[in-house]
Amino acid sequence: MSHLDDIPSTPGKFKMEKPYFHRIRWHSSLAKLTFWSLVFLGMIFIFFFRSPSSSPLPADPSRRSLRTPSWGGSDWEKKVRSSARVRSRNGISVLVTGSAGFVGTHVSAALKRRGDGVLGLDNFNDYYDPSLKRARQALLERTGVFIVEGDINDSALLMKLFEVVPFTHVMHLAAQAGVRYAMENPGSYVHSNIAGLVNLLEVCKSANPQPAIVWASSSSVYGLNTKVPFSERDRTDQPASLYAATKKAGEEIAHTYNHIYGLSLTGLRFFTVYGPWGRPDMAYFFFTRDILKGKPISIFEAANHASVARDFTYIDDIVRGCLGALDTAEKSTGSGGKKRGPAQLRVFNLGNTSPVPVTELVSILERLLKVKAKRNIMKLPRNGDVPYTHANISFAQAELGYKPTTDLQAGLKKFVRWYLNYYTGGKKAAE
Ligand SMILES: NC(=O)c1ccc[n+]([C@@H]2O[C@H](COP(=O)([O-])OP(=O)(O)OC[C@H]3O[C@@H](n4cnc5c(N)ncnc54)[C@H](O)[C@@H]3O)[C@@H](O)[C@H]2O)c1
Repeated sequence: MSHLDDIPSTPGKFKMEKPYFHRIRWHSSLAKLTFWSLVFLGMIFIFFFRSPSSSPLPADPSRRSLRTPSWGGSDWEKKVRSSARVRSRNGISVLVTGSAGFVGTHVSAALKRRGDGVLGLDNFNDYYDPSLKRARQALLERTGVFIVEGDINDSALLMKLFEVVPFTHVMHLAAQAGVRYAMENPGSYVHSNIAGLVNLLEVCKSANPQPAIVWASSSSVYGLNTKVPFSERDRTDQPASLYAATKKAGEEIAHTYNHIYGLSLTGLRFFTVYGPWGRPDMAYFFFTRDILKGKPISIFEAANHASVARDFTYIDDIVRGCLGALDTAEKSTGSGGKKRGPAQLRVFNLGNTSPVPVTELVSILERLLKVKAKRNIMKLPRNGDVPYTHANISFAQAELGYKPTTDLQAGLKKFVRWYLNYYTGGKKAAE
């Protein structure tokens, strides 16, 4: 029974008189018809706007940003062009994806400093504190780098960017990083590291001219390998995390686009990058935070009480490796979506080549922070982390002139100085 049927029974409100009986019945039928029509229309409305296929807000947080930002218009295009304008002889114009991220910010700034054209792209997702991404954006803005807010899955946006700027290179750093978060939000890894990569390569392959692409893979592709140091020739078919599996998939996808479309593709396997403006989800970062707060920190140990160790690599060394890869990247050979000849396909390790136990990392932080850590030793859980990483960098040394120069002690000193200034010096983010 509809609530309209209830209305006449309201005492004293609708007192009906006999002569009007038929007219009232007719009115009542019309009202019912109108009511049910409205209910029906309402249901159709609810169905279309709440059905999962058209839901504008899928559960995965990284997807939220796909539709939010607005782009386009002559002012926007002017900013894009100005940011991507090459200002040095023989400079390159680079689209840097993930430019509000840790590595992306440093690479964008370095390219801009030497006169290359740089345009950033980032969806500013909330995997970690977006205010840190905004602070990096402010920093880049001051050097003349504009970051377009958008998702690498947005083909229309990517096509528009290539229409406005004929990028010579793409430095692809946008990804869902971190190994442990995959157990919480596996979809975000598929969204950014697989679907997003394919979408980007689709647009690059159709661009005229096609850009050369340098992109971030990861040392995590070595997975459960025990032969060290890790060499590019080693097997990479036993990933220990979904993150690693998506990076490995990325390397295979890169092979396909190189093979079919003649895209020049260089994958860089970064080894545990650290430094100022770093990522809050990484151990060196949250250990610093927790040690300062007097909170206990969990330090993992491998089987038989063996130390977990990492080939920690300072951000400036990684940036030099990225620039070396961009500078030695050959042109893509395709045009109009068709391959015209064989194109370059490379993979390089970018590490420091000197693994340090995590316990030693904590000791260095204790000395720099002048605070004793409350150490909580735990068994390494099987949630994606591997016990040991060590890069063989001879290939990058020979081809890119890559030579890391910063040891962990010196690099952490710079990180701690930045951290204290940023978090305890009144958020001096953009200074
Ligand atoms: N930092 C490391 O130790 C390390 C090690 C190995 C590999 N990598 C790889 O290097 C790259 C950069 O890492 P980072 O440490 O700077 O991470 P980061 O999370 O700080 O940067 C990634 C950026 O990409 C953006 N992003 C994510 N998905 C996106 C999407 N779909 N569309 C647009 N933007 C998106 C994020 O907002 C973020 O700003 C990543 O590909 C990462 O997997 C990093």
